[in-house]
This record gives sequence, structure tokens and C-alpha cells, in this order.
Amino acid sequence: MNNKGFVSLVGAGPGDAELMTVKAVRLLQQADVVVYDRLVSADILNIIPTGVSRISVGKEVGNHCVPQEQINEIIVSLAKSGRKIVRLKGGDPYMFGRGGEEIQALNKHQIQFEVVPGITAASGCSSYSGIPLTHRGMSRRVQFITGHFNDNDPLDLNWKSIADPDSTLVIYMGLSNLPLAVHSLIDAGLPASTPAAAIQDGTTSSQQRVITTLGLLNDAIHQRKMKAPVMIIIGEVVTLADELDWFQQSLDRGDINNGIEGNDLSQPVKREQTK
Ligand SMILES: C[S@@+](CC[C@H](N)C(=O)[O-])C[C@H]1O[C@@H](n2cnc3c(N)ncnc32)[C@H](O)[C@@H]1O
Repeated sequence: MNNKGFVSLVGAGPGDAELMTVKAVRLLQQADVVVYDRLVSADILNIIPTGVSRISVGKEVGNHCVPQEQINEIIVSLAKSGRKIVRLKGGDPYMFGRGGEEIQALNKHQIQFEVVPGITAASGCSSYSGIPLTHRGMSRRVQFITGHFNDNDPLDLNWKSIADPDSTLVIYMGLSNLPLAVHSLIDAGLPASTPAAAIQDGTTSSQQRVITTLGLLNDAIHQRKMKAPVMIIIGEVVTLADELDWFQQSLDRGDINNGIEGNDLSQPVKREQTK
């Protein structure tokens, strides 16, 4: 490897800054430059020390995000300048995050790297909405699918294998093609009465949760005027949402105090001395 800069591809988790890994926080504190995506929350950006350059590659230019090829070029050219780069991505970089493509671009230029996993949105939304991804007697399998293909290619998935009533189905980026996905699942044999949930802005203080059925999911999302980022969870496990909830109902009542906002993770926590 040449003596160039170093890139840490880091998962920022789903939104709540305290869901970042200790390693991710340390790397942000030691970075020369942070290149971040649209889904990285303001609380997480607050961890970056003043003076560290920040480059947003998720800002919409017209209606388009910065194209992936251009993001790759930005990271490569920053790394070639010999600096420590943190490439910060929402959730986990290798879960529908195109993290692999960025590493391939670094490899082409013989730039050294490391990859730091993050809590993926499915996991965060599951915990913060009271919906376990698996539960004995309800779900034997979890499937993570994308509801959106690159370049708006048609959503050409094997619906027969996906429509399994004994599994949990998690749909990332599911909003734009939701009517097609619902129709295809029902057509492939999944009952319209299958429990379904949509979680918007999961793990943050603006989280919204809709609990309904597959057949009514699209209307429920429209009625609530939900907007991306939204996670769709379909399966029997959704029936546990109220029993296992610890976050949403307190949030709706406005009485939650779990420190999800305004934490200064750059400072050590001082504990009261006890005798
Ligand atoms: C391009 S994918 C990136 C996923 C990310 N790499 C991860 O591991 O979570 C973006 C999609 O993730 C989901 N997502 C990410 N953060 C979310 C959040 N806080 N609440 C709900 N869904 C979220 C949404 O489906 C969104 O459209």
C-alpha cells in the first residue's frame, strides 16, 4: 500500500446519537475530514469537534443526491491528500448503504481503510417500536429487502419466496414502491390480514409508528402523511408492538426522558460520588 491517507467507513446508526459505537465516536473525534450522508442526524454531527472539515454528500442538488461515482471520487481525492477521513453513513454501511462500492473504489487506488459497523435501521426501529424481529412461535426467519432499485429500475423481486407467513419481512426504502410491494405480496399468497407496521424517523424524538395490516398499510401511511426515512415491518411479530413498547407511547405523551437528544458525547459523563 502507498503512504496515503486512511479512510474509516463508519456506521452512524439509525439516529439516536447514543446508538453509535464507542469506536465510531472515537474516530469522529480524531478525524481530519468527515464526509457524511443525508441520514446522519444533527445530534451525531454535533459530536464532530469544531475545526474538523465536514462535507455533506447527501444534500439534494435539485432533486438528486450527489451521484455515487462522484462520492467515490471525493473520498479518494481527500484520502490522497494524506488526511484521516471518516466516511460516515446512516445505519450500517454494508446494509443497503453502498459501502462495498466505496471500499472497491479505495482499493482501486490502493488507499488503506477500515470498516466500522453500525446499528442498522431495522434493528433500531425494531427495538424502539416494540417489534422484535424474531419471536419464538411467530417468526423463524427475517428477510431484509429493498423497496427501491437503483436508477428506478422496476422492483423485480422473487415475491413467492418473500411472501412467507412464518417470517418477518423488513423493507428498507419501501415508500415509493409500496403499492406494488403490497399487491405482489398478497398476490404471492401472504394474507392481507398479516400484521404490518411503518416506523418513521426511528429511534429519534420525532419517531412515528403506525400499526395496521398489510392490506391497509398503504392507506395508513398516507393518512399519517409519513415521509422517508420509513421502515416497514411485516409479520406476526407486529402484534407485540404495544405489549413490548417502551418508547413510542411515552414519546406520544411527551413524557419520555431517555436522553435521545442534546447529549454531548464528546464530553465524559461525570458521576456523583457515593459513599
Ligand atoms: C439507503 S437505506 C440505508 C440503510 C442504512 N445503511 C442502515 O443500515 O440502516 C435508507 C433507508 O433506511 C431506512 N432508515 C434509515 N434510517 C431510518 C430511521 N431512522 N427510521 C426509519 N427508517 C430508516 C429507510 O427505509 C430508508 O429509506
